[in-house]
Amino acid sequence: MARRYRVGIVGAGIGARHVEGFLALQEKFAIAVVADRDRDRAARLAAEAGAAVHGEFDDALLARDDLDIIDICLPPFLHFDAVARALRAGRHVICEKPLVGSLAEADALEAIARESGRTLMPVFQARFGNGLAKARHLIDSGAAGRVYLATCETHWNRGADYYAVPWRGKFASELGGAFTGHAIHIHEMLTTLLGPVRSVSAATAVRVNPIETEDCGGAVLEMANGAIAVLSVTLGSADQVSRMRVMCENVTMISGGPVYACAREPWEFVPKAPKDQGWLDAALAQAPAGPEQFVGQFALYHAALESGGGLPVTVADARRAIELLSAIYHAARTGERVALPLAKDHPAYRGWR
Ligand SMILES: NC(=O)c1ccc[n+]([C@@H]2O[C@H](COP(=O)([O-])OP(=O)(O)OC[C@H]3O[C@@H](n4cnc5c(N)ncnc54)[C@H](O)[C@@H]3O)[C@@H](O)[C@H]2O)c1
Repeated sequence: MARRYRVGIVGAGIGARHVEGFLALQEKFAIAVVADRDRDRAARLAAEAGAAVHGEFDDALLARDDLDIIDICLPPFLHFDAVARALRAGRHVICEKPLVGSLAEADALEAIARESGRTLMPVFQARFGNGLAKARHLIDSGAAGRVYLATCETHWNRGADYYAVPWRGKFASELGGAFTGHAIHIHEMLTTLLGPVRSVSAATAVRVNPIETEDCGGAVLEMANGAIAVLSVTLGSADQVSRMRVMCENVTMISGGPVYACAREPWEFVPKAPKDQGWLDAALAQAPAGPEQFVGQFALYHAALESGGGLPVTVADARRAIELLSAIYHAARTGERVALPLAKDHPAYRGWR
């Protein structure tokens, strides 16, 4: 019989979405404890989860004997230490995005995970969606033909309320702005579709709120497969849009899922010629479908823990997202076009802060 893993969720903000995900998979996971230094916030979420309440992330939490997995939903600047401590305490670890703020830190955490013999799974729930799965199937099967150009729009709206939370809006604690905290999801989805990035040009600006981190930006990527990707990011849009368009030889693919889950259906797949609709429908019917978002990621996580197989999201995936961020910030600051991969002696390897 499959094992039921006992989870401790640390951080009761986005932790509430993790609770929903685990509760949908109750035969696979039991939420043993919810921890937050704001004990009232922890208690409210623990009541929903049927879990015990804990305060500060501390040695007493790590010493509990009812936890297999520690799920870190803390502000970004706390991720590195919290993940390292939880791994060294012998727990499997899940960690919210952005995992950390540099390739150097990502590599250090990967080494700590290896030494600990435990797994570290970053969170990229946004890529688990059946619309994106169709797009991936068309590209990977060759049905889409050559990819010409992709655009990603993250046009969101954030104001004073959002930035009233003290860790947001500062490089030291949020690690970055709209590219790091908001557009990271759709850009990660893009690289799962199109593969590695060859070079990055970028510009960033603070235009919308009185903050330190960028709230507007644009980047142009040359992909290793020859395609071009254009990324646009703002937190000053009146409406909220997450949209990806991928123009290929045989089809144009357009995301239409909800703003925080645009990998989900509906996606539009427009054949180049009306006569192509038949084969396109046949190809789309072959695409895999499964549980989406947090439930999708956590279900595959359980399967990986049981089988010892590959995690649905790996440190290498987080590393790829961090490498893109490192290149975007370096390109924006220097005006250079930055070639990837970034070697250990590149100034951006140690991060952008
Ligand atoms: N995957 C997603 O779609 C998604 C969405 C939103 C946020 N996030 C990420 O989740 C993380 C948390 O963001 P949030 O919006 O939930 O932040 P938040 O500020 O709402 O929640 C963080 C919680 O951590 C608690 N906390 C801080 N230090 C602590 C400590 N030492 N011990 C115990 N509790 C402590 C705070 O009291 C707070 O309740 C960030 O990394 C963010 O980027 C991911």
